[in-house]
Amino acid sequence: MTPVGAPVVRDEALEKVTGAAKYAYEYGSGEQTAYAWIVTSTVARGRVMSVGADHVLTADDVIAVLWHENAPRLGDVGDPVVAVLQDGDVHYRGQVVALVVAKTPEAAREAAARLPVEYEELSHDVVLTPDHETLYKPAQVNPSFETDTRQGDPDGALEASPVTVDHTYTTVALHNNPMEPHASTALWHDDGTLTLWDSNQGGHPVRETIAGLFEVEPGAVRVVNAHVGGGFGSKGTPRPNVVLAVMAARVTGRPVKLAVTRQQMFSLVGYRTPTIQRIRLGAEADGRLNAIVHEVVEQTATVKEFAEQTAVATRKIYAAPHRRTSHRLARLDVPVPSWMRAPGECPGFYAFESAMDELAHDLGMDPVELRVRNEPEVDPETGNPFSSRNLVACLREGAARFGWEPGPRTPRSRQEGRWLIGTGVAASFYPTYEAPATATASTDGNGHYTVAINATDIGTGARTALRQLAAEALDLPLERVSIRIGDSELPPAGLAGGSMGTRSWGWAVTKACAQLLSSGSPEVTVNTADDIEALGQYSRGAYGAQFVEVRVDVDTGELRVPRMTGIFAAGRIVNARTARSQIVGGMTMGLSMALHEEGVMDAAFGDYANHDLAGYHVASCADVGSIDVGWIEEDDEHLGGARTKGIGEIGIVGTAAAVANAVFDATGVRVRELPIQAQHVLS
Ligand code: MOS
Repeated sequence: MTPVGAPVVRDEALEKVTGAAKYAYEYGSGEQTAYAWIVTSTVARGRVMSVGADHVLTADDVIAVLWHENAPRLGDVGDPVVAVLQDGDVHYRGQVVALVVAKTPEAAREAAARLPVEYEELSHDVVLTPDHETLYKPAQVNPSFETDTRQGDPDGALEASPVTVDHTYTTVALHNNPMEPHASTALWHDDGTLTLWDSNQGGHPVRETIAGLFEVEPGAVRVVNAHVGGGFGSKGTPRPNVVLAVMAARVTGRPVKLAVTRQQMFSLVGYRTPTIQRIRLGAEADGRLNAIVHEVVEQTATVKEFAEQTAVATRKIYAAPHRRTSHRLARLDVPVPSWMRAPGECPGFYAFESAMDELAHDLGMDPVELRVRNEPEVDPETGNPFSSRNLVACLREGAARFGWEPGPRTPRSRQEGRWLIGTGVAASFYPTYEAPATATASTDGNGHYTVAINATDIGTGARTALRQLAAEALDLPLERVSIRIGDSELPPAGLAGGSMGTRSWGWAVTKACAQLLSSGSPEVTVNTADDIEALGQYSRGAYGAQFVEVRVDVDTGELRVPRMTGIFAAGRIVNARTARSQIVGGMTMGLSMALHEEGVMDAAFGDYANHDLAGYHVASCADVGSIDVGWIEEDDEHLGGARTKGIGEIGIVGTAAAVANAVFDATGVRVRELPIQAQHVLS
């Protein structure tokens, strides 16, 4: 009986529901413990001239006030985001300008609110426009893709095509809101070593960054992240909170706890850039694409470049001999954009898969068939063969399960009572990544086996999935296998990010188990760098198809999504229960992007005006109907390792397009900006 694929209940389920699972802020409590509170800038650009520390240090419980004139100097790790309190320059509203440390969180918060900060204020520019004067071409887009690509003669092909679409789609800033805010507890020991309980997506990168900033050996820093309440990318790189906690602990000689408030998360932890995307498609009358052009304008910050790879997935999804993609950035006085679930693919596919729906409409074709007709034989960008590609199978299976009516959509043709009803489809895609990892497998000689690896379970179920993979590799029942993760003392491994966590760690875990069995020794340690290096020249990615039903109130424009179906092809699925949860989460986040989430820029103050969960609505249970998730069985020998792809991100890719396409089918109104709201569809 293989445990891989089974819907095993997550290992830490009981700990989590009983509150026994400890998160970063819950460690290090004691009489000496101090609490730090961040003070953020109230201007969008300028300079901090003075901080009235004396004004608050007179309060009984206030221990220290740190700002750029008295904060310890940090080593240079090449990341301005973590170089906190090193100079007085203000690059965006909501930047860290001071830190208050006190004996209680209440005293820290109160003093932070009273702390006088004087600025020299300069004018700011925070509004993204399609022809912004600062637009430039970045050297590459994240993580290391070409900024622009071109094949053939896209302009000529567009002109020669009997059917073309040419539309511009926009998305707004989207803010990461994991349930657990960013939090850290720091404790320096007498021997100069540091223990850091920190909420992050990978302990080893945090260890390296902190060691570099505080100029100690990486081995002197221990990062524990046993439980993490979500990340979505915002905890994929160290943020200011962890640096400030360590700094405050060093200055005060106490254990220090620091939690970013929900409001502060809107400027300090990274958000998804707004985008302006022009898509042009040229097709034959039978739907075959001749040309694809995808041009992206997005924003970055003045203090650091973040170049989201919005058009990258477009390069891979459909056949077309002539194609061009490009990215341009406007450098604005805004908080630094960063990683958010499927960075690039998510906003890119909203625009691209909307344009495909517009093309299907103009052609009078079934949007499912249009996609099938443009299925490429090899990766259209590289010419490499696909290791496996089951987009068509996902479309077919999804259409059957959803009850998709074949044929072209006939907008505004179905109504039940007050509700206009529409259905929409979109494709999903996420590349398959992997990073080297190290794992140790050992046996106690009494039939129990333990695998140790510094993996991070940010709520995905990774801990459980790895135990299942280990049990399979050892050919043992689950209860004879333990997994140890979430501690930088364990063998080094990469991030829970890029949907590559379980794939990368699982590779090392299964390799360690296999070697333990074949070697006959009580303990082995393996690394997968060489195995990854040896992967063949294949195009590896996960694919999916999403089907959505939308209902629109004919009088009020109220939008509801009673049901969605998502079918995915993502290699072997390790745990049916946690995989389903991941994908339901991704699709919910995509629905939230389609209808609700919107960072509203206040141009006068230079900040996102709605920086809390009252003003920034994230889809709640009442916004979500039934979500039906399934997958195509894949056993792809070119994946290596445990033959898994990734499922963390693909669930959000394409969802918003499927919703927008369904809104068009319901109402006949094509909305090309997100989020779609009542005012867009009322006619
Ligand atoms: Mo995800 S945005 O790769 O953590």
